[in-house]
Amino acid sequence: MSCSAGVITVSDSVHAGVNEDKSGPLIQDILQTRGFERVVSAVAPDDEESIRASLKLILSLKVDCVFTTGGTGFGERDLTPEAISPLLERQAPGLVHLLLSSSLKHTPLAALSRQLAGTIGKTLVVTLPGSTKAVRENLDALLSNGVLDHALDLIK
Ligand code: MTE
Repeated sequence: MSCSAGVITVSDSVHAGVNEDKSGPLIQDILQTRGFERVVSAVAPDDEESIRASLKLILSLKVDCVFTTGGTGFGERDLTPEAISPLLERQAPGLVHLLLSSSLKHTPLAALSRQLAGTIGKTLVVTLPGSTKAVRENLDALLSNGVLDHALDLIK
């Protein structure tokens, strides 16, 4: 199956050019290694309107799935779930449950991520935490068992 994806790094400091984006390129690498043929990316600062604007831009490119990274925690500027939630047409709590339960095997701090998953049209959207460690663990939980492939098959 030929798949495409969007990756949105949500971070004030990456957006301002103060910090290097490590998680966005990591997601891109992992997906390309898994056979995704087209992966487009964007960086948004931690404000709701900018996050939504980036997501709408990526959705206009008709990708099969979108992964955001960052802004899912409890910090004052962690607003990714608030930005994405109003756009989700169908929530996918089972995917969130899978991510949380597998992440809790790695660290109890996974409980601090307010992750969301759901669909917008024919696109699956999943919010991931910001660290590269969390990105690896979350993507492994979705990719190592065929869950993401099957979800994308069903949405198409
Ligand atoms: N999930 C996994 N699998 N592995 C991790 O190391 N880190 C947690 C959590 N989820 C972590 C994880 C931590 S420390 C935080 S603060 C939250 O994700 C929120 O991260 P974010 O605000 O960068 O999105």
